[in-house]
Formats: sequence, C-alpha cells, structure tokens
Amino acid sequence: MPRSTRWQNPSDFSIQPEGIVKTTSNQALGDACHVPVLLQEILEFFQPEPRMCIIDGTLGFGGHSERFLQAGARVIGVDQDPEALERAIERLSGFGHQFQGIRGNAASLDLLAKSHEAFPQQVDAMLFDLGVSSWQLDQAERGFSFQEDGPLDMRMDPDQTTTAADLVNQLSEEALADVLWTYGEERGSRGIAKALVARRQERSFETTLDLANVISRGGRRSGKIHPATRSFQALRIAVNRELDVLPEMLSHAVSLLKPGGKLAVISFHSLEDRIVKRFLRAHSQAMVDDPTWPEPRLNPDYHFDLPAKLIQATPEEASQNPRARSAKLRFAIRRAT
Ligand SMILES: C[S@@+](CC[C@H](N)C(=O)[O-])C[C@H]1O[C@@H](n2cnc3c(N)ncnc32)[C@H](O)[C@@H]1O
Repeated sequence: MPRSTRWQNPSDFSIQPEGIVKTTSNQALGDACHVPVLLQEILEFFQPEPRMCIIDGTLGFGGHSERFLQAGARVIGVDQDPEALERAIERLSGFGHQFQGIRGNAASLDLLAKSHEAFPQQVDAMLFDLGVSSWQLDQAERGFSFQEDGPLDMRMDPDQTTTAADLVNQLSEEALADVLWTYGEERGSRGIAKALVARRQERSFETTLDLANVISRGGRRSGKIHPATRSFQALRIAVNRELDVLPEMLSHAVSLLKPGGKLAVISFHSLEDRIVKRFLRAHSQAMVDDPTWPEPRLNPDYHFDLPAKLIQATPEEASQNPRARSAKLRFAIRRAT
C-alpha cells in the first residue's frame, strides 16, 4: 500500500487515513525515522545550555536529545528497547562524553542512577515522551503495527516474557475484553474478545495481520480509524505495562530533579494523560483536604509548581506530523521543598 494511503499508526487515536508523514525539511537521519513531537515548546521550557544535565527517560531515536546536546547540555538517555538505544547512540555518537545512553526501564531510574557512575545525584530537567516511536511501529518484525505482517510480539523490551500473542491466545474471554476496554477504550471489546476466543480454538494467533483481520470482522467501525487500532493499542499497553509503570516513572522526577528542575511529559492518549494530570495535581497543591478532617492540612507531597496548562501541537506541526495531533504535553517545575 503506498505510504500516503496507509492507515496511521496504532498508538494514535487522532487518526487520519493519510498515514505517517515524513518531513522534507533539512532533517537528520533520525528525524526521517521519528519526528520529535512538540520540540520547540520543550526547548523553550528547558532552555538547554552547557551547564545543564538532562535525563531523557524515553530516548527513542534521540530527536529531542539531539537538540539538547546541540545546545551544549549533557544528556543521559534511557530506553528499554536495545535496538532503539543502539540507533540513538549511533546517531548521537558525535557528542562524545556529553551523551550517555543507558538501557533500562524509566520506572527504575532510581536504580539505574545508583548503578551508573556517570549519573549525577540530581539533574536540571527530565523528559518522558511516552509510548513507541514511529520507527518501532514501522519495524514489522516487532509486531506493533497492523499495517504489515509480523509476529504478534509488541514488546519494547525483548527480555520481557509476555508477548501480545501470549495475551491473545491465553487470556480468558472476559480478561481479554477487559484489556481491550481498559487500555483501548474499545467499545466493541466483548464482541472482539468473543471472536478471538472462537478463532483461537481452531488455530492460535501468531501474526499481526491475522489478528487485525479477525478484529476487523468481529469489531465495530469507528469513523476513519482502522477497526483494529484500539485493540492494538490496548494489547501494546498491556504487554509493556505502560500504565502501571507511568506513576513510577513520574515519581523519579521528585527525587532526581534539583530544586527549580523542569519536567516535561508527552502522552498520546487520554489514559496516559489522566495519570500524568492526576500525579501533577496531587503534587502541586499546597493543602489537602478530606471530608473526615476538621480542616485542610499541609500537603506533604507539594513538590511541583505547574507553569502552564496542557499544551498541544500547533496546527502547523499537526499538519506536518500526524503523530503530533494526539500529543498532550504537561510541564512542571520542582519546588525547593
Ligand atoms: C515516543 S519514543 C521517544 C522518541 C524521542 N523523544 C525522539 O524524539 O526520538 C518513546 C521511546 O521510549 C521507549 N520507552 C517507552 N516506555 C519506556 C520506559 N518505561 N522506559 C524506557 N524506555 C521506554 C520506547 O522504547 C521508545 O523508544
């Protein structure tokens, strides 16, 4: 299928059928594989400069990090996907000791910090650009996409044991419907789960296109998005425990950011954004109250100021990079307490 008519990636709800657009401006090799989202907004907020150290907790192709490095900042980039990390390290190799790439899950940033000498105790800024990159989606053999056939895998970290095939072939019908509903907000979750369980009794699922075809037959059409979009997103989130690890990732901003240090989080669907919003709200209120208390109390978790409301891509960015259409960016600044 020509690229211009492909369905868009399964991690993105604001889907238009024109597919992933590649920018034609003067771009680095990395940007041809994954265009960094909301880059200008993050650069304006972080104001990277030579004395700064920044943790990029979801390094991906290093698109954001490359710009931090160009501005002279030191960057520690973390990614749980060894292939993505290898490519980012190659892309950023020209920055020498200014950049360090570390394999690991950002949910364990505290442990990674302890086990790597180069990790400073506290840093000036931290970025989480959640989900998978366009490059990961484009690798058919990783099994994230329903656009091309590949093994039903979807693991960002290949050392993890559970694959999407394990979930689809082994969960009970009820548990499968729960996954599709909870992580994909798929309104046809029960019908799809029923169709999947009926089919797997004849033959188990092994490939992405096989799964996408059965979902397309068992599910409902919803606007212009491919009928398997929400189910693929749900399975990817479940396989990688993306919503479970997010609060842990965010909690490291409390311990690892210096007073005045800046946090930026980009999410791509409402489930993630809700977690980020709740975390930031709970950590940015001076007082907390409870109906059983006689009066409000000081909030012991008052760690952040919120300098801006939700930020979204400009129409220009959204038109050049469809992935940016669903991106939601939130900022926070670590308080001195
Ligand atoms: C959206 S991409 C980041 C793109 C990057 N900002 C850029 O502009 O090139 C997200 C990356 O984070 C990684 N990732 C997602 N969740 C992670 C986690 N909990 N810990 C470590 N890496 C994670 C994925 O493997 C993927 O490579």
